[in-house]
Amino acid sequence: MRQFPPDFLWGVATSAYQIEGATTVDGRGESIWDRFAATPGKINDKSDGSVACEHYRRWPEDIELMRWMGLKSYRFSIAWPRILPAGRGQVNTAGVDFYSKLVDSLLGAGIEPFVTLYHWDLPQVLEDQGGWPMRSTGDAFVEYADVMSRALGDRVKRWITHNEPWCISVLGYGNGEHAPGHKDWSKALATSHQLLVSHGKSVQVIRSNVKNAEVGITLNLTPGEPASPSPEDADACRDFDGGFNRWFLEPLYGRGYPMDVVEDHVKAGRIPNGKLDFIQEGDLKTIAEPTDFLGVNYYSRAVLRSNRIPEEKNAPRTVFVNPAKTDMDWEVYPKGLTKLLVHLESEYKPGPIYITENGCAYSTGLSADGRVHDTQRVDYLRTHLEACADAIGQGVNLAGYFAWSLLDNFEWAYGYEKRFGLVYVDYATQQRTPKDSAHLYRDVVAQNGLDVEQAA
Ligand code: FCB
Repeated sequence: MRQFPPDFLWGVATSAYQIEGATTVDGRGESIWDRFAATPGKINDKSDGSVACEHYRRWPEDIELMRWMGLKSYRFSIAWPRILPAGRGQVNTAGVDFYSKLVDSLLGAGIEPFVTLYHWDLPQVLEDQGGWPMRSTGDAFVEYADVMSRALGDRVKRWITHNEPWCISVLGYGNGEHAPGHKDWSKALATSHQLLVSHGKSVQVIRSNVKNAEVGITLNLTPGEPASPSPEDADACRDFDGGFNRWFLEPLYGRGYPMDVVEDHVKAGRIPNGKLDFIQEGDLKTIAEPTDFLGVNYYSRAVLRSNRIPEEKNAPRTVFVNPAKTDMDWEVYPKGLTKLLVHLESEYKPGPIYITENGCAYSTGLSADGRVHDTQRVDYLRTHLEACADAIGQGVNLAGYFAWSLLDNFEWAYGYEKRFGLVYVDYATQQRTPKDSAHLYRDVVAQNGLDVEQAA
């Protein structure tokens, strides 16, 4: 048995737009994902989040599922457009009431709420005014953080400001794969900065509103490995790690933006006039506001092969990708999680780390016996939990693990094609069926550990 620390926080994670549905009720404003999904060609299966898992109405059932799994915590996000339909100013009480009731019921079920403020659903009206590249959007976010931490702060202690600033900036404003769909690198860089500044400011605001608050940010971190020992592959790896991981970690931990990445952006013409002129005095100090934990989303690693020299001139590959891939085409590589955690602990000493997301997409459906035998997810979960136990064994201060996700849900630009849930959702009937992985997770939580004999 691999035992976890006694107060380890076992949970699952979701986000508002991916599960709630009910996008036009009770005064909710439009979000950039409503607009994006309604734009032809943006979502693979032409779907949107207007129904999703009907969690807005079925949440009591979903809490029951979590209670059945014995979970200690639930990470969910708040839809900003439900709270402030105009982005700022007038508060929509119906929106606040929804989350307030959810929080009360979670606490009643012995499940601690873990709130993410921004999981990608910006009010469309703020996008119309320029969106995340604008400092004013960051200020509106701080206002929203203030409203929510006042409303729930008597009951919610743990807060995540932003989920995955890399995705918000690069996918949303750089390559246009996500809402709002811009393809402009200078906008992406300005976005990443305004996200970080608004993070720092809201850490201060949440702390002042919530007694004993624990506040942090969630990054999607992907460790890179060069495909060979060649200098070219090493540089490809530096480049990847710089843009994906260090661009966020370094300023958050007080080291400013990594200069090698800035130089690459200048060379590539991504920074007009070669100057990061969105940085104002005091910003770097604000970004480095100390946090209480770091949230880490881990799905896979990246193996980097240089494209600067022809393949035949490069050194032979020494690192090969595991052929086991999920439906996202992401390599299954649990060792990368241990490596990442050990690296974060020694390099940044971030205090407690929570895995705020980890999971996999496999399309396994219902069997004739009425169950969902998602053996690949069972393996993925086991091996990644072992990777967590290994990291703890190597001295990492890992305080909790949140499986992505409670339910199959709207997987952004993929629509409903990709199923990440521990619980299967039949979208025609909205019936929920715990998959075998949910049964395994339930056992793990009950034992506070993983039975390694079974893991073979
Ligand atoms: C992460 C997102 C989450 C989900 C998973 C699969 O990047 O935070 O909403 O889509 O990927």
